[in-house]
Amino acid sequence: MRKRDRNFEVYRKSIQEQNVYKQPTAFVIFGASGDLAKKEIYPNLFWLFKDSLLPQNTAIVGFGRKNLEIKDYLKQKIVDRMKLEKDDQEIYDIFVDKNHYICGNYNDEQKFKELDSTIQKLFLDSNQNLQSANRIFYLAVPPKVYPDISKRIAENCRAKESFYTHLVLEKPFGKDTNSSNNLSAHLSKFFQEEEIFRIDHYLGKEMVQSILAFRFANQIFRRAWNRDSIESVLINFKENFGTEGRAGYFDEYGIIRDVIQNHLLQILTIIAMDQPISNSADAIRDEKVKVLKSMDPIKIEDVVLGQYVANEMGASVQKNAYTDDKSVPDDSLTSTFATMILYINNERWDGVPFIISAGKALDRTTSEVRIQFKQVPGNIFKNVCKRNELIIRIQPDESICLKMQNKRPGMDFILEETDLDLTYAEKYEGLYLPKAYERLLMDVIYGSQISFVRSDELEEAWRIFTPILHQIEAERIKPICYKFGSQSIPESDNLITTKGNYTF
Ligand code: NDP
Ligand code: BG6
Repeated sequence: MRKRDRNFEVYRKSIQEQNVYKQPTAFVIFGASGDLAKKEIYPNLFWLFKDSLLPQNTAIVGFGRKNLEIKDYLKQKIVDRMKLEKDDQEIYDIFVDKNHYICGNYNDEQKFKELDSTIQKLFLDSNQNLQSANRIFYLAVPPKVYPDISKRIAENCRAKESFYTHLVLEKPFGKDTNSSNNLSAHLSKFFQEEEIFRIDHYLGKEMVQSILAFRFANQIFRRAWNRDSIESVLINFKENFGTEGRAGYFDEYGIIRDVIQNHLLQILTIIAMDQPISNSADAIRDEKVKVLKSMDPIKIEDVVLGQYVANEMGASVQKNAYTDDKSVPDDSLTSTFATMILYINNERWDGVPFIISAGKALDRTTSEVRIQFKQVPGNIFKNVCKRNELIIRIQPDESICLKMQNKRPGMDFILEETDLDLTYAEKYEGLYLPKAYERLLMDVIYGSQISFVRSDELEEAWRIFTPILHQIEAERIKPICYKFGSQSIPESDNLITTKGNYTF
């Protein structure tokens, strides 16, 4: 049974008091048969519905080229994803009944007109008159179809009267500055920025959100959060699995575009930004943009690239190479691992290396931020006095941990490293931590853009990454091979310790 925190009822009440909760709402999913819809969108919509957080009169409409019997699909094919608890069957059946589906091509004008009239007919008032509704359009399709779909939505399916239209897009938002700007320019012809929700699901994670509270609500850290006290910042992302099932997409993008230019750069901006003037979406994003504007494009000498190769782990276990995947060319130079050093040229951070390291097919799965403080000046202790280190573990085992020096209890006077440890599973035992998509879907429905990427953020992010991406491709820079399951790449560790000033 999911245990919500004690304030959940207060939260639910505040949601139910909002106008949006009381207004009819159509949630349209393009690419309803796809991986993301199956793994994230439908399950999270169900969980929100079960918790009475979806607007009370919500209808969900799938759209796609496949002829999908949506109710059977939900009841049979993807029901396992819903993690139904005892007694959930009845509420799940009610949820399923709220679902509809339209089969059509993404460039078929007539189908979008049909979508519009279907939505209208879903909401009749007590006298059987059509009612307007808020409309959310979630593009869970490959990015190449974004232009077609967004244009046709704008021309045929906008919400009527004063109701809102929200367009939700998934990364990747382009491949470089040009392609991203083209997409932004296209979208801005049809939608206002307030209507566009660019999802970066890392922004919906509990621990990424907690960084803001940690930083700006604790005087003790506010004073130390700068180049005077901090030696280096390491943002480390590892996965213990390869690109299974997604190699076709991945080979075109690589690890830098897949997670570094978006998820990990977003974390960097939250770690580095100044205090915003308020906690509004624009105030926060204004500060994040300032951080990005203070950064130069990355230099090749500050980068290590890798690609995983097979690892025969005993007679029966064979972890395949990246290029063993049928959708990857044998001579692919796409990186599945990258470490890089970035600098923020402002008063707070001048000279402090921000290290980002990300890799697939490594020894374990983890995402964490490690902030290493400077050595204590004039150390009076004979044995080594290590640096303080603050570790924010985003996943798994969410925690915040401060490594510090303490006198080992006893007659002698010996320092040892110990932890001030806030492990969520212990401190908030049994408490349900909302999934990133649960939170982000609520934001999309109720109209908060705090956790979504603004177009100027995106433009700056691509400015920092486009030159290095183009150089890697133009010069056909060969990634270093590492075995599936490796802890790291020696060249990366070397970069992290030398240029990154980070002590392992
Ligand atoms: P899928 O490959 O599963 O495609 C989703 C749906 O889009 C398909 O079911 C299909 O529906 C339609 N589609 C597939 N290929 C094409 C094509 N070439 N032209 C037109 N329509 C097509 O994608 P995902 O669900 O994995 O991803 C959707 C979006 O979310 C992408 O932008 C992806 O980058 C992003 N994303 C996905 C994540 C994931 O975990 N899956 C994570 C983060 C982002 P039909 O045939 O019925 O039209
Ligand atoms: C996605 C990337 O955006 O994020 C994937 O495309 C990656 O390659 C995933 O595995 C990581 O997300 P999470 O939430 O599992 O850490």
